[in-house]
Amino acid sequence: MRVLVTGGAGFIGSHIVAALASRGHEAVVLDVLLPAAHATVPDRPPPGTAEFLRDDVRDAEAVARALRGIDAVCHQAAMVGLGKDFADAPAYAGCNDLGTAVLLAEMARAGVRHLVLAASMVVYGEGRYDCPRHGRVAPGPRSAADLAAGRFEPPCPRCGAALLPGLVDEDTPADPRNVYAATKLAQEHLASAWARSTGGRAAGLRYHNVYGPGMPRDTPYAGVASFFRSSLARGQAPRVFEDGGQRRDFVHVTDIAAANVAALEAVAARPPGSYRAYNAGSGTPHTVGEMAAALADASGGPAPRVTGEFRLGDVRHITASSARLRAELGWRPRVGFTDGMADFARAPQRAADGAGAR
Ligand SMILES: NC(=O)c1ccc[n+]([C@@H]2O[C@H](COP(=O)([O-])OP(=O)(O)OC[C@H]3O[C@@H](n4cnc5c(N)ncnc54)[C@H](O)[C@@H]3O)[C@@H](O)[C@H]2O)c1
Ligand SMILES: [Zn+2]
Repeated sequence: MRVLVTGGAGFIGSHIVAALASRGHEAVVLDVLLPAAHATVPDRPPPGTAEFLRDDVRDAEAVARALRGIDAVCHQAAMVGLGKDFADAPAYAGCNDLGTAVLLAEMARAGVRHLVLAASMVVYGEGRYDCPRHGRVAPGPRSAADLAAGRFEPPCPRCGAALLPGLVDEDTPADPRNVYAATKLAQEHLASAWARSTGGRAAGLRYHNVYGPGMPRDTPYAGVASFFRSSLARGQAPRVFEDGGQRRDFVHVTDIAAANVAALEAVAARPPGSYRAYNAGSGTPHTVGEMAAALADASGGPAPRVTGEFRLGDVRHITASSARLRAELGWRPRVGFTDGMADFARAPQRAADGAGAR
């Protein structure tokens, strides 16, 4: 299969390119090498790349050229992270939503009917919560006053009781809490509308917190694992926000690459006109504090420092069930938390150009 991997020079995309090549597929990479993600232009394309196109997904002519001879598209290109402030919103909406719309319009025109989309668990907002009295509830965004007072756990919106966090499934209503999350949700709606109107077949993988070799260094656009890893690389203690009890699902980048290959190989067999979302996580939640400790241990660096700082756009707990991905695509995560973090603690990171990067 000849696959167009948008964002194929990025962290996850480059692992997908390698995984495709190892399965005998050809990967054509289209990536504009966004400065927020790449401080310098890499001197060669990711290993396994059949053809590299330094182009923007918002450029219809470039996308049309890239789609020639393509069997399926694996759409990874996006601006990621929380960004610096709201002034980043047009850039997020441009890369993520205008870019996706341009790509899908050109796929419609070119008759390319198979799509795998990099979606995200951020679309859920907070994870699943159960109140002992009221059953399943959906707490709203946490207030700045609560966070500043160290009240990090969202209470039951009906009675204020402490809640039990659980696993979300794909049918949980979306509740995006920041610009990035809103643009990731719009990508899924666009993909679904494209499938319906063209008879295309699409799968969206809602990745959890992906980590592993090649992850960008600390920038406003990067994930928490890279902040900790960068601090340790400087010999500093990782600064853990809130009380460190935030639960996440950290999933290794090679497992996410394998999920993409499985989805690309299976998408042709889906009913025409359909979009199917899959949670993609390890299935073994850990707290952010545990992750910082695992990285500090593995690198022999200073123990994490819990600071009580917070970011308004962050959610408290988000962990999902990946049972659908396992059942329908036969996918299994292979890299466990301890081994994966130990390996990541020693792996090289990629320089990126966001403020705070070094
Ligand atoms: N890293 C995670 O934990 C995570 C979690 C959930 C979802 N995702 C999604 O996975 C995908 C890949 O993310 P990543 O972590 O590898 O990020 P990344 O920044 O390393 O890679 C994204 C790539 O897309 C490229 N890109 C951005 N805008 C582009 C444009 N307009 N035209 C062409 N190329 C463009 C960038 O240059 C970069 O190489 C994204 O869609 C992201 O939303 C990532
Ligand atoms: Zn209650």
